Amino acid sequence: MPGMLEEVLAGLTATTRAIPPKYFYDDHGSLLFDRICSTQEYYLTRTETDLLISHGTDIIATTRPAQILELGSGISHKVRLLLDACGKLSHTCEYAPFDVCEEMVDLATNRLAADYPWLSITPLLGDYHAGLGNLPKTGGVRLLAFLGSSIGNFTAAAGREFVRDIRLSLQPGDFFLLGADRVKSAAILHAAYNDADGITAEFNLNILRVLNSTIQANFDLDNFSHSAVYNADLGQIEMYLIAKQEQKVQLGKAGISIRLAAGERILTEISRKYGVVELESMFIDNDFKLVRHYQPDNQWYSLLLAQVPG
Ligand code: SAH
Ligand code: TRP
Repeated sequence: MPGMLEEVLAGLTATTRAIPPKYFYDDHGSLLFDRICSTQEYYLTRTETDLLISHGTDIIATTRPAQILELGSGISHKVRLLLDACGKLSHTCEYAPFDVCEEMVDLATNRLAADYPWLSITPLLGDYHAGLGNLPKTGGVRLLAFLGSSIGNFTAAAGREFVRDIRLSLQPGDFFLLGADRVKSAAILHAAYNDADGITAEFNLNILRVLNSTIQANFDLDNFSHSAVYNADLGQIEMYLIAKQEQKVQLGKAGISIRLAAGERILTEISRKYGVVELESMFIDNDFKLVRHYQPDNQWYSLLLAQVPG
């Protein structure tokens, strides 16, 4: 990936050492993420899936999209619930999965093509931060979906900015479907990011393996441990890799090296948890009309449907 070494170096040498989270998702990382989604502790996938099962038909009947465009589509499991609703309503549309992980997009495209013969699929590959400004045109209404609480992986300010960028990329009449995790007890949140089988830990450490193979780094995975803690003040899970001992790591062909002290932390991901007011105001403040707000009885998760007025 062009510029990857510079980007990773900038992150690793910043005051708060960090690695951009999009590098989690090579083919192995994407499969590990999929396994996280079916752990007992990771309620997010189950809860959002149930909401899509209950309200998929209402979403499609309300939006009648010519195209469903999904940001961070991964293996495209959840969109099937919307496609099934299309089937039920005899509605046809196009699907555009947009993801950095080429292997997942290829796999998803092949499987969806086999299971939904009526569906035309336009895969989009790359970083959605860069790609929002020039989404391919559609002939009709677009339903842009951003699921899995990926919005939580941005800071509050970056999340608002992302919603604004999405708003600017859409036309009057288009819809935006957002899934977001909610603030809840620290114990439930902590468990979701520290599953007993250690799959989240494996996923977190895998980002170092990705750096080793793509930018010729020499991280020793045994020298790091997984840490995910809930920061109640900021309402976010913070995921770190912690250096178990003092060490030197080389990056890039030129062998630039960085030194880590024992106990030093590298931030790999945050996962913000939202309150209702903050969620709804992200839409209202960006000139979206909030059309639906679906939530389960326990209020653990929100699925919001908004429309560009006009
Ligand atoms: N939407 C799915 C997958 C969520 S995992 C679900 O709800 O289960 C996050 C997905 O976003 C991964 O497939 C990852 O490859 C993708 N992703 C992460 N950062 C990205 C970026 N900057 N640009 C495009 N895709 C990204
Ligand atoms: N969007 C997911 C979330 O915030 C991503 C995620 C789940 C994740 N588990 C993780 C990212 C573990 C890094 C490490 O819940």
